[in-house]
Amino acid sequence: MPLATTDPELAELLALARELAATAGAIQRKRYETGLTIETKSASIDLVTEVDRACERAIVDGIRARRPHDALLAEEGHREATSDARIRWIIDPLDGTTNFAHGVPRFCVSIGIEREGVRSVGVVYDPLLDERFEAVTGAGAWLGDRQLSVTGESDFGRALVATGFAYDVHTSDDDNLAAFGRVVKSARGIRRDGSAALDLCYVAAGRIDAYWESKLHPWDVAAGFLILEEAGGRTSDYRNGPPDASGREVAASNGQLHDALLARINP
Ligand code: IPD
Ligand code: CA
Ligand code: CA
Repeated sequence: MPLATTDPELAELLALARELAATAGAIQRKRYETGLTIETKSASIDLVTEVDRACERAIVDGIRARRPHDALLAEEGHREATSDARIRWIIDPLDGTTNFAHGVPRFCVSIGIEREGVRSVGVVYDPLLDERFEAVTGAGAWLGDRQLSVTGESDFGRALVATGFAYDVHTSDDDNLAAFGRVVKSARGIRRDGSAALDLCYVAAGRIDAYWESKLHPWDVAAGFLILEEAGGRTSDYRNGPPDASGREVAASNGQLHDALLARINP
């Protein structure tokens, strides 16, 4: 049985998010490992490709054609903030651009939707594995027909943990290296896989037990937070406060390991 909701508005939004994620995913699949135009953004290691932009254009055009009154926030520049919009789309058209640009097969499309400021729908699509992680508030998190739930691991020494490093890592002292060291020295293993949205979904799916990262953005976490929360996981900032929708401090876990994770990233 796949994800379903009895709320007609959320059902319509979920259907459109699935369709647009599939459209962008098809663009990524087609252009993967083909010659790409690559530019840099905030730093020499912060890349953007023509495929990021093409995916964003396809998603934004699809929303504008079908739901012209919705607000949207998309990474590569499309921002529409109508003050009375009930619905806001938060879009990372290609999460994992460095992987994509190097031909590493780990990237996705991430689409989150807020209704009246509340996280309500999340779709994260990995086009190479054809895996669609999705959630609707109150209706659980799903991967295809499988309902997701986090692991029950409570021993940090048996945990597989993921993280990432911000694009200012060459120049900033706030570089995550001390926390990285503490986790390496105490977890079973650590991964830096290069897609924040998939990292959150992998905690939701029980593939990994916890994940943290600083200096992310709303589009990195909008869908993944809901998917993880609906899978029974926990998200917070580094002081165990409410999850930070801006992505500035992201601690995510199966719940049982949350305190142990926070103790290592913010001792
Ligand atoms: C990046 C990825 C990466 C994370 C970066 C993000 P992008 O997103 O999610 O895993 O470490 O902080 O900015 O640039 O590929 O969309
Ligand atoms: Ca991203
Ligand atoms: Ca991106």
